[in-house]
Amino acid sequence: MTITAPTGFIGLGLMGGPMAANLARAGFPLTVWNRTPAKAEPLRDLGARVADSAAEVGAVSTVLITMVSDDDALEDLLFGAGGVAQAMSPGSVVIDMSTTSPSCMHRVASRLADTDIHLVDSPVFGSTEPALSGDLWAVVGASPDDLTRVRPQLDAMCATVFEMGPVGSGSLMKVAGNLVVTGMIALLAESLTLGKIGGLEPGVMLDVLDAIDFTSPLWKGKGSLVVAEDYAPRFPLRHALKDVRLARAVGLATGLDLRAVAGVEEDFVTAARAGHQDEDVMAVIRTVRSTADADGPERP
Ligand SMILES: NC(=O)c1ccc[n+]([C@@H]2O[C@H](COP(=O)([O-])OP(=O)(O)OC[C@H]3O[C@@H](n4cnc5c(N)ncnc54)[C@H](OP(=O)(O)O)[C@@H]3O)[C@@H](O)[C@H]2O)c1
Repeated sequence: MTITAPTGFIGLGLMGGPMAANLARAGFPLTVWNRTPAKAEPLRDLGARVADSAAEVGAVSTVLITMVSDDDALEDLLFGAGGVAQAMSPGSVVIDMSTTSPSCMHRVASRLADTDIHLVDSPVFGSTEPALSGDLWAVVGASPDDLTRVRPQLDAMCATVFEMGPVGSGSLMKVAGNLVVTGMIALLAESLTLGKIGGLEPGVMLDVLDAIDFTSPLWKGKGSLVVAEDYAPRFPLRHALKDVRLARAVGLATGLDLRAVAGVEEDFVTAARAGHQDEDVMAVIRTVRSTADADGPERP
């Protein structure tokens, strides 16, 4: 495939919107659709064609990119009443960039193969900022030929493309990687709360975490949201909860009980129930703080 390959994009949310914009800016002949139509308008301004239905995107695209919420959304989109997969031509390729389960990728690949449509399982690491700048990290499960065919599209959205193996291995890497990321976020919330109760300033704590030998861009990236008390969604808490549950389910299916992340799941569930599900995942700190207010030791 080349930059002239008719390319479709479905799912123009926090991530999909900027990712599709990078394809439009790179010059791909792009057709887009989003369930909530208003989110497609910025793409029209960049020269993309806005389709009237998801099936229309499938029908005109030889490479179709999906960036939707989860397994159910993807399977509903492709095989449900909208009939996207049915509308696609044999020989075309679907690149799923959503965070979905490896088992979903296997099911989707098998159903698409019935009509000779290929699946590239390509979730991404990186949040809204790398999505905007085209610097995401893709972890790809696909045949080498399929990956070669869609490389131009991936390169327009991603700084790095990791080849993980066959379909399903991209999702497995993403699920295993997000286990670390979500754990770090939950620990950061606990760490900053513990320090604050004892009189430490979060900004000063972040300077230290940023300087020591186990540092990560995540400390300041997410910690600065706490300093600013700004929980506008970059990585919505409901998706982080979905990812933690995915990791636990994948673990349990192989007999592995991921106990550390069970505590993370509990914190995210409590935060979602308290109404923070559409805020950034870092809003989990509100739940951690409220625990301290309710049951914690007296403050010094
Ligand atoms: N945000 C991040 O930092 C980040 C980073 C890496 C990976 N991810 C993953 O990327 C995916 C998208 O995340 P996001 O942050 O962009 O989420 P988002 O803003 O909630 O976008 C989700 C998109 O999926 C669409 N959608 C949901 N259910 C659908 C259905 N049944 N049929 C058709 N479209 C449907 C939504 O349409 P509407 O607009 O109509 O709701 C929206 O376009 C998720 O799997 C997430 O876990 C997110």
